[in-house]
Amino acid sequence: MDSGQTVNTFIDFFRERGHGLVGESTLVPEPGDPVLFTTSGMHPLTPYLLGRPHPLGRRLVGVQRCLRTTDLDEVGDRTHLTVFQMLGSWSLGDYDGVQSIRWGYELLRDGYGIDPGRLHVTVFGGDEQVGPDTDYWRTWSELGVPVEPTVEDNWWSNGPVGPCGTDTEIFVWTGDGPPSGTPTVDPRWVEVWNHVSMRYRRHEDGSLEPLPQTSIDTGLGLERLLTILQGKESVFECDVFEPWNTTIPRLWTLDERSSRLVIDHLRSSVVVIGDGVSPSNTGRGYVLRRLVRRTLTTLWRDDPSRTVMDLPPVLVEDTLRRFGQPGDIGRVYDVLRDEERRFSGLLERGRQEVSRRLRRGGLNEEDYRSLHETHGLPRELVDNLLTMG
Ligand code: SER
Repeated sequence: MDSGQTVNTFIDFFRERGHGLVGESTLVPEPGDPVLFTTSGMHPLTPYLLGRPHPLGRRLVGVQRCLRTTDLDEVGDRTHLTVFQMLGSWSLGDYDGVQSIRWGYELLRDGYGIDPGRLHVTVFGGDEQVGPDTDYWRTWSELGVPVEPTVEDNWWSNGPVGPCGTDTEIFVWTGDGPPSGTPTVDPRWVEVWNHVSMRYRRHEDGSLEPLPQTSIDTGLGLERLLTILQGKESVFECDVFEPWNTTIPRLWTLDERSSRLVIDHLRSSVVVIGDGVSPSNTGRGYVLRRLVRRTLTTLWRDDPSRTVMDLPPVLVEDTLRRFGQPGDIGRVYDVLRDEERRFSGLLERGRQEVSRRLRRGGLNEEDYRSLHETHGLPRELVDNLLTMG
C-alpha cells in the first residue's frame, strides 16, 4: 500500500462512520499561541476539544503535518522524524474511547491487513490523581491484545497547560521472530497509534479541571505506519522518501546515520520555509536555523565545498506538493542560500577564534561561555569545530 492509498483508507474508514474531513493547518499556530509549532493533529483543534462546537460536527478526521523538536537528537534512528504527517480522528464529546479502540483495531486488522498477533498496547495504570483506565484494559483484553500498564507514558498533553488526559498506545511488532517482551522494554515494539481521552484541562498552577465532556483524540504517524505496511526497516525507506533516497546519494556520499539526518533536516527545512518561517536567533526561526546548520555541519565534515543549493528543484517541489503547500520554491532557495552564507562566515570567524584559544591551551567553561556570548558560537558548534579540525 503506498502513501496515497494509506491516507485514503484512513479517511474513508472514518468518513464511512460519520466523520467530517478537516483541512490541514500550517505548522505555524495562530498568533498568541505559546507553542512554537504544531506538534500534533489535535493542536489546531484545541478550542473544540475544550468545548467549542466545530462547524463540521462532533466526529472529525484529518491529516496534519507536525514538527517535534523533542526528538531532534533521535533523528537518524529507525523511527524518528522532525517533520511528519499524522493521521487523526476525533470525537468531540460524541462516542467514547472504547468505540475508538474498537474502530482502531478493526482498521489496523481489516483496512491495513496487520496481523493482530503483532499488536501490543499500553494503558494508563492509575496514579494518586487519576484512576486506571479499566474500560480500555477490558476492551483490549476482549479483543485478545496484550496490555501493559504504565503511568507517565500513558498520560498525554500538548504542553504545560490545556487539554490533556490518559491515553492508550498501540504498538506493532517489527522484530524478525515472534513477538517477545513488552513495549516499554523491547524497542522492536514500535508505537503507531495513540488514542487519548481528553478529560481534563491543566491550568498554570498545575491543577486539573475536569472538562464538561470527554473528547477522544487519536494520532497515527503516517511514515511509521507506511514503514510497517511496506515491510521496511526504517521510516526513511518508506515511499514518501523515495525522491530523497534517489537524489541525495547522487549528490553526496554519506554514512547511513548522516544521510538520514541530512534528508530529515532538509525535508523539514523545506516544509518549515514553505510555511513562511525565516531563520533567526529565537523561536521558530531558531529551530529552522538549527536544522539548516546541523545539515551543513554534517555535509561539511567531509567536504566543505558542498552546498545545499545543489538540491534539485524537483525535489523541493515534490516536498511542498506532498505537504499541500502552495510555497514559492524561489523563496526556499533564497532562504537556504542566505543561511548557508551566514553560517559559512560564522564558521570561518569561529575557527580562527577557537584556534587562537587552543594555542593558549584547551577550552574551559569560561571559553565556551564567551565564545557563545561574544562570538555567537553555541557549545554544539564549538564542539563541531573541534571535531572538524
Ligand atoms: N495527540 C496525540 C498524539 O499526538 C494523539 O493525536 O500522539
